[in-house]
Amino acid sequence: MPLLKATACACSNIAFIKYWGNRDDALRIPVNGSISMNLDRLYTRTTVTFDPNLNADSALVDGREMSGGGMTRISHHLDQVRRRAGVETRARIESVSNFPAGVGIASSASAFAALSLAAVKALDLRMSEAELSALARLGSGSASRSIPTGFVEWFAGDSHESSFAASIAPVDHWALVDVVALVSKAHKATGSTEGHHTAATSPLQAARVADAARRLDLCRKALLSRDFEAFAEVVEQDSDIMHAIMMTGKPALFYWQPATLTIMAEVRRLRASGLPLLYTIDAGPNVHCLCPADYADQVDQAVRALPGVVDTLRAGVGHGAWVES
Ligand code: DP6
Repeated sequence: MPLLKATACACSNIAFIKYWGNRDDALRIPVNGSISMNLDRLYTRTTVTFDPNLNADSALVDGREMSGGGMTRISHHLDQVRRRAGVETRARIESVSNFPAGVGIASSASAFAALSLAAVKALDLRMSEAELSALARLGSGSASRSIPTGFVEWFAGDSHESSFAASIAPVDHWALVDVVALVSKAHKATGSTEGHHTAATSPLQAARVADAARRLDLCRKALLSRDFEAFAEVVEQDSDIMHAIMMTGKPALFYWQPATLTIMAEVRRLRASGLPLLYTIDAGPNVHCLCPADYADQVDQAVRALPGVVDTLRAGVGHGAWVES
């Protein structure tokens, strides 16, 4: 058998309506749908080589040879692809993210989306975009949203086949920019996977889930009509609600640092003064500040000047995952 090799790339994404908690942890079927945009300048490039001479999978990620739990997660994901192709061949993975490792920007979305596409391509499997998105979801929930292009909705579903993401608007629909204010470059204490497992321990999670359809609806409508004011209101509320769940679960997860609150307050102050700007925060202390592209320089300058902000990253709306020839 010849070497079966392919390279694929996928952008990271930022969620406007968040994924937090699964109804099925093993399959990563979420308790609620989510909406995001791909981030064009933050992506992962992954080469997968299936080689009959290998007796184990191995992976070089950002120059580091993977072992332990990280390697097991990759290998399990490859098993999903191998099972679909009816092969047992082990693989060598080489993966590089173009955003600095360990800055608290999750790379699992772009990494598992790129890994899924490269592995599927290497084994010449035919899959629809929805099937590929569902496959990527098995590796990391948010990776399902890095397969389709532009602005994306992940439909929660209630089975492997029905839980996938699709594009709801193309890249050029709305020129939004994400100015990520980096508060800390340290790795987060508790990762998302563990966080999803504890979401249901918060007495507030049931209310969050019950209200999710309303927030999804408001977000989708605001996004499709480019209504920034309505968009800002629902996106910030959704992020704040998710953090309330994190803070009130067992164990309680406090991701915010003092500088996180300083940035949130500044975003609200700038918006009150007329600047279209909103914040949203994932499982870490960094703040994603979103605004129309014309305001990105001004926002970048304003957040950089705040105490506790160590750096900023910037990204616009990104394409879906692609194969490199
Ligand atoms: C807070 O997709 O990273 O960023 O499925 O365990 O890999 P796993 O979790 P992950 O969770 C993302 C959580 C979030 C919100 C979001 O992106 O929707």
